[in-house]
Amino acid sequence: MQGRRLKTGVLISGSGTNLQALIDACTTPDYPAEITLVISNRADAGGLDRARQANIPATVISHKDYTSREAFDAAIDTALRAAGVEFVCLAGFMRLLTPGFVNRWHDRLINIHPSLLPAFKGIDAVEQALAAGVQTTGCTVHFVRPEMDTGPTLLQVEVPVKAGDTSETLHDRIRRAEHQCYREALRLIAAGKVAVSEETATISDN
Ligand code: GAR
Repeated sequence: MQGRRLKTGVLISGSGTNLQALIDACTTPDYPAEITLVISNRADAGGLDRARQANIPATVISHKDYTSREAFDAAIDTALRAAGVEFVCLAGFMRLLTPGFVNRWHDRLINIHPSLLPAFKGIDAVEQALAAGVQTTGCTVHFVRPEMDTGPTLLQVEVPVKAGDTSETLHDRIRRAEHQCYREALRLIAAGKVAVSEETATISDN
């Protein structure tokens, strides 16, 4: 018989390929998480269709409908709680969350970022890596803290930069690494194998 699954909410703004990776992972019978709600701040986010095709409730909460960041985040928080969400994954969610929201979801909120943090924080991490001329970049899954792209690192995967890469070709390669990395990160957390102490995430191997 299948065990209890961690009720997970996913916040998106765009195409949702990382969301798709999590949706696919959750179809595996012994995967210890399930996605119970997808929220997008943009009505045109491709990830909304991915959720609907998987029969996952998906809703738009547009930041443009709120006069403050606090009110926007409060609406997201209310929707997550109403759906019984226990854990939240940011998957290409391009809004900076307020400290109030981040602290309410302390150690129950992770993000995936297309660089090896602390290198290349911000929205254009792939372009920054190309401009810096690095040979290796990658992706990072980390617990979210109020300061942008900070918080205990859970998993990182290296990705090579190849000659002639554009931001599109490099981002495609990083995305493929992200999909594996994010499904594994959520699996580890939902299986109870991750502890965060003194701002360090530790993975137990049993
Ligand atoms: C991903 O590469 C993710 O790491 C990045 O947005 C992309 C979303 O792709 N997130 C950030 O840059 C956050 N700072 P997706 O919509 O196909 O999952």
